[in-house]
Amino acid sequence: MRQRLPFIFSEILPPEARFFAEKSPPPLAGARTARLFALLALLTALIFTLAPAPLLAQSSVRPPGNAVTFPDAPEPGPANTLGTRSDAEIWDMIRGGSPRDPGVIFAPTPEGALMTTTGQQWRVLRERYIRKYAGWAPLAVIVLIALFHLIRGPMRLKEGRSGKTLPRFTLTARVAHWFMAVVFILLAISGLVILLGRVLIAPYLGREVNSALTSAAMQGHNLFGPLFILALFWLFVKFVAGNFFHPHDLKWIFRLGGLFGHHVSSRKFNFGEKTWFWLVVLVGAVIAASGVLMLFPWLTDDLRFLQLATVLHVLGAVLLISIAIGHIYVGTIGMEGSLDSMLKGEVDESWAREHHDIWYEQITGKKAHPETPKMKQEGAP
Ligand code: HEM
Repeated sequence: MRQRLPFIFSEILPPEARFFAEKSPPPLAGARTARLFALLALLTALIFTLAPAPLLAQSSVRPPGNAVTFPDAPEPGPANTLGTRSDAEIWDMIRGGSPRDPGVIFAPTPEGALMTTTGQQWRVLRERYIRKYAGWAPLAVIVLIALFHLIRGPMRLKEGRSGKTLPRFTLTARVAHWFMAVVFILLAISGLVILLGRVLIAPYLGREVNSALTSAAMQGHNLFGPLFILALFWLFVKFVAGNFFHPHDLKWIFRLGGLFGHHVSSRKFNFGEKTWFWLVVLVGAVIAASGVLMLFPWLTDDLRFLQLATVLHVLGAVLLISIAIGHIYVGTIGMEGSLDSMLKGEVDESWAREHHDIWYEQITGKKAHPETPKMKQEGAP
């Protein structure tokens, strides 16, 4: 007896199968199996039609039309694998270029590599050592000075103020000094924010605050940098006379500047002041030159000069900032009567006799210590 197939099978099955199925009806179990197969076939067809394309297309990803295939490139492998090359091999190729085909990795460096060994060394030096240790030097100096001040106290004028003054710096010399001081302090603060913001600001005030402060610091730093060159030149012109070293300065060195009680005779500037002057001029020149190179990196086509510039810039700045803290201490609360010279241009005669006795004698024609002739002999040029 011919059986009528359900509609769905009559539509799906080919005519021969339909004829066969209708002509010799299968046993009951066979009919069920056929239905099951047909359902499965239908479901599979549905899944393939409706499934999201990327799921099915993984194996058919093709490179863009302008892709370049390097002979040494890692062989394509299944998705999410490194092909036949290890991680280390791939990074080695990126760092050094391909030894078999130099220049195979497009590169901005003369070595023909995307990453260089010098670049990695520079990064490690900057991140692990300079940022971590050098940036803290100014803070360490502040702590040491605070301890010194607590133990030793300020240097007071032994005879007290005489009330009589002597001219020490002209107005233009003082303006040159304060111009440098203001520009230097602004550069120091903005530079330290750039250097230490990530460790000093971000963890406490958040990354957004650090980002805003660092951007502002960058703008300020770029603006004050050129002014520093002007300030440096002006300071040099105004203070170079009197800052040349003299054999007499050896006494100051051997007695550690009179730090431990011995009086040391001095001309207009003592050895400490002269050293500070030349450090500001010479290290300042290195800081300025390296800063210009960082502002205009196209001035050199050798990346290593830029790397060296960033290192010298930070180290020079941290050195000057640390010494400047000592200088500011001595110029203010550390030594009685010092600040008068830079504020008023005049110093008390007692200050001049105690700290710069040879200079006192040169400009007044009087003996600095009439009662102690031995001291006069010591200070004689
Ligand atoms: C608030 C900050 C500062 C104070 C209170 C201060 C104070 C002084 C004083 C009192 C003097 C005169 C010393 C004397 O009469 O022999 C002086 C000289 C000098 N200061 Fe400053 N200063 C400050 C910042 C700076 C900064 C930031 C620099 C450079 C980066 C600087 C560079 C100099 C130089 C080069 C001299 C002349 C020393 C010499 O020619 O031997 N000062 N300062």
